[in-house]
Amino acid sequence: MEKSELLYEGKGKKMWSVKGNDELLIAEFKDDLTAFNAEKKGNEEGKGALNNQISTAIFKLLKENGIETALVESISPTEQLVKKCSIIPLEVVVRNIATGSLSKRLGIKEATVLPFTLVEFYYKDDALGDPLINDEHAILLDIVQSEQDLATLRHLGRQINSVLQPFFASKGLKLVDFKVEFGIDKDGNILLADEISPDSCRFWDVDTGEKMDKDRFRQDLGSVKVAYEEVLRRILS
Ligand code: TMP
Ligand code: ASP
Repeated sequence: MEKSELLYEGKGKKMWSVKGNDELLIAEFKDDLTAFNAEKKGNEEGKGALNNQISTAIFKLLKENGIETALVESISPTEQLVKKCSIIPLEVVVRNIATGSLSKRLGIKEATVLPFTLVEFYYKDDALGDPLINDEHAILLDIVQSEQDLATLRHLGRQINSVLQPFFASKGLKLVDFKVEFGIDKDGNILLADEISPDSCRFWDVDTGEKMDKDRFRQDLGSVKVAYEEVLRRILS
């Protein structure tokens, strides 16, 4: 599979067309780190390769558990072959423990275990700062066609959580919250797309409470790469 044309460069990945194949794309994971809608920028050599390996392992686990994904296979240290799909412009955030923007927005005490798994939708629009939206906003903006589509996305978010939460618990990590994105393939199937990595999740060490994700970069805690390496080591152990 040979890269052809650069179709899109996002904050964490570059998307390439594939020579002679219009059903697949190549996703190249970058070493760049951004936070707060790219107001804060950094770079960590090797981060892209770590996220590729972490996300590949997680998507494989989800596939084994019946979640359809866009991943075909990892083809190099920093690249994945993926099915082409049309990305639904929603960040689906799934939360088990209050922190981050949830605590800030609603005043819920940091680290409160939520009484149920919370699923939120954010509209993927950098110019607007990815605002939190409700179901009617999503329909009004034509992001989805019906309440049923939103129910499906919520259900998928919860299903992914029900696979990943016990998996990470068995690796000594609390899955605090995570963000997922979905795409629609040419046959109309909803596929898990993008990535699941320490860039898009919060992981706290079960014993020490130490943050093992991009909050280390957001909050200038240092040892970003060391934490990502440790997450990969535990996933593969
Ligand atoms: P938040 O508490 O900042 O809303 O973040 C919730 C989760 O979503 C957290 O695991 C980090 C992830 N996330 C992203 O992957 N991309 C983003 O742009 C934001 C804001 C959060
Ligand atoms: N990914 C977002 C950005 O680059 C925000 C974040 O993850 O904190 O700005």
